Amino acid sequence: MGVRKAVPVDYDDDPERFAANLTAKARYASGDVHPIVAARLVAEGASPILDAGGGTGPLARLLADAGVPAVVADIAEHVRQAPRPAVQADARALPFADAVFGAVAGLWMLYHFADPIPVLREMRRVLRPGGLLAVSAPSRRNDPELAAVLPDWGAPLSFDAESAPAVVGEVLDVVAVTSWDEPMLRLPDRRAVALYLRGRGLAEAAARDAALRVEAPVRVTKRGALVWAVRRCR
Ligand SMILES: C[S@@+](CC[C@H](N)C(=O)[O-])C[C@H]1O[C@@H](n2cnc3c(N)ncnc32)[C@H](O)[C@@H]1O
Repeated sequence: MGVRKAVPVDYDDDPERFAANLTAKARYASGDVHPIVAARLVAEGASPILDAGGGTGPLARLLADAGVPAVVADIAEHVRQAPRPAVQADARALPFADAVFGAVAGLWMLYHFADPIPVLREMRRVLRPGGLLAVSAPSRRNDPELAAVLPDWGAPLSFDAESAPAVVGEVLDVVAVTSWDEPMLRLPDRRAVALYLRGRGLAEAAARDAALRVEAPVRVTKRGALVWAVRRCR
């Protein structure tokens, strides 16, 4: 297997980068995994729910609206913006007892670990037998229209849509995989392209320069996967 790179954790060092990511998605993207995950968790009657690496709490907000108790655990300071209860904690050592959650979510976060297996084991530890896990990951070939300006485009990530089902399957029983490959983002002009590239990890000036090399408007194809798994009762 080649080198599989983890995505750097820059949330406290460069909060503007994550803010650009959230703003670009809110302005220009259609389709979001959070309502899909929330709807299934609510339908399954899973409770309480842990959102590990839950960020500023988009999933927890939807669950709160549905009256489902949820806890957000995230290593970055922005977890203070999440709905309560929320705790600043490392997903590699979750501050919870064994088998206390009916479901655990880990959305867009496992690619931050060079080895996601210990984190998945930790998620499994806090799940009750029969409990559900939902994790999502982008494809290594996400945003193909921007491939020329995205460093390392196409290189495997430590956890990506291509590897996610097999990696999760090492720790829990995978019960469903939903993949997408659709133009879900429309960047109307170069400012929008620059904002999006900034959110994708480029520095401010690099994002502006790179945007000059992209023909706008541009429709961008989002590729990724959502994996559902269960902790079997045994
Ligand atoms: C791309 S954001 C996704 C946030 C949220 N899950 C969502 O879907 O909006 C990745 C999150 O993983 C968190 N994270 C990274 N390393 C972590 C760790 N070791 N323990 C807990 N959270 C971590 C980051 O702080 C960040 O909030």
